[in-house]
Amino acid sequence: MSEVKMETLVSLCKRRGIIFPGSDLYNGLQGTFDYGPIGVELKNNVKKAWWRSVVYERDDIEGLDAAILMHQRIWLASGHVEGFTDPLVDCKVCKKRFRADHVEEKDFHKFRVLIQKEGDDWEDTGKTLYAESKKSAKAQLTSGVFAIPQEKHIRVEPVEGDVFHGKRCPECGGELTEPRQFNLMFKTFIGPVEDEAALVYLRPETAQGIFVNFTNIMDTMRRKIPFGIAQIGKSFRNEITPRNFIFRTREFEQMEIEFFCKPGTDEEWYEYWVNERFNWYLRFGIRKENLRTRSHEKQELAHYARACKDVEYNFPIGWSELEGIANRTDFDLKQHQKFSGKDLTYFDEETRTRYIPYVIEPSGGVDRAMLAFLTDAYREEIVRDRPRVYLALHPFLAPVKAAVFPLLTNRPELVAIAKKLTADLKKEFYTVYDDTAAIGKLYRRQDEIGTPFCMTVDVETLSDQAVTIRERDTMEQERIALDKVASRLHEKFKL
Ligand code: GAP
Repeated sequence: MSEVKMETLVSLCKRRGIIFPGSDLYNGLQGTFDYGPIGVELKNNVKKAWWRSVVYERDDIEGLDAAILMHQRIWLASGHVEGFTDPLVDCKVCKKRFRADHVEEKDFHKFRVLIQKEGDDWEDTGKTLYAESKKSAKAQLTSGVFAIPQEKHIRVEPVEGDVFHGKRCPECGGELTEPRQFNLMFKTFIGPVEDEAALVYLRPETAQGIFVNFTNIMDTMRRKIPFGIAQIGKSFRNEITPRNFIFRTREFEQMEIEFFCKPGTDEEWYEYWVNERFNWYLRFGIRKENLRTRSHEKQELAHYARACKDVEYNFPIGWSELEGIANRTDFDLKQHQKFSGKDLTYFDEETRTRYIPYVIEPSGGVDRAMLAFLTDAYREEIVRDRPRVYLALHPFLAPVKAAVFPLLTNRPELVAIAKKLTADLKKEFYTVYDDTAAIGKLYRRQDEIGTPFCMTVDVETLSDQAVTIRERDTMEQERIALDKVASRLHEKFKL
């Protein structure tokens, strides 16, 4: 498990305008988050880093931005209507819902609930509950499930020897229903009539938008196999238990490639893509010790996959999936050929034969990648007896590239130079000007959002036409001529 606590990241994100709970003003909407001014920059940079690596730096991948709303038959063909389900259990007592596979099996002890009558007399209420400990049993009493007036003195007493091992409600210890399959797709209607024919789904993966455009792209871009299509976009899943900040949400973004190849070459391409994607995270700053791959067991595989390997990151919640690379075989194109009645075969000019291409799919989450980059970059240290927090983000990902401060705000000449430097740098990098606090505080703010460089304009600047540039990670300061700042930054931001 990462040493960085999730609460620490959540609080930093809220404090610094990176991520807010969704619908915060109305006390939140579970499983949604809003990216603030700094967060949207980080998110855009993560997407840019991906697009650059998979589209611009290669010559075998095309980009796409397909619609979120797609024909309902697409989801019948893909198997999502039938099979995109999670097992769900309800608590019979507090009525809360959970994913059956997210509820841990534990030992639960039975407790009697007693209330105090007059004096020292205690009366058995006849109510019992199951809990892991006396403390959690007491906590359940205040959860409102037991409907005992708060002003009464209540206590719990273990019923000796009555232990239940298994799954019970993680919130109140109540009995759970048998698991039922619950489809994760959000539904809506297209047009004014809300009937079956008008039913559409919000896409639960961007992948299908790629499959249904396979021939459009191959034909218009005159592509031959092997080649891939890359897409970044929102996906929606009605997750039963969204949790762990932006790790599992109901609305999230995916970065997906469907790489079409000749059957028989699929295993080689699969290994290739696992490697490529693993190295992409390292390239943008994730430390190797926090990254690993894990092959899916047969029973874990999605309905469309022959093999799947996850790139896992050591999140604050422990090792978990960051991205999955799957061998989807010819499953999807075959299904769409069947459901659409259109020919999706590829004509191989070399062998003069037709086949349905196999597909290797590297599929990552933008939000999850952000969480990994934030976790990995988070640093705390003591500098001159004071704690310093900074994000050692890769310069390409840093939301703000440079900040400019005038040392004295009561000297208009310094303010003017600082504003001019900001305006000049803004043409090339996202640069901010700040004079709303003392210099130490301004540095602290920029450190916490991972700004690689801060420049201070001081009285000396008037005579030497230079500024002090401070580097985020080392805090080293250097004097640099005003007309050299842009080229210095260029040097640092080169990929
Ligand atoms: N097209 C294949 C596919 O969608 P997936 O493993 O279900 O595969 C791929 O999802 C990636 O999308 C995951 O590795 C994760 O990064 C991200 N993802 C999936 N569900 C998510 C959720 N509820 N919240 C945030 N990210 C999610």
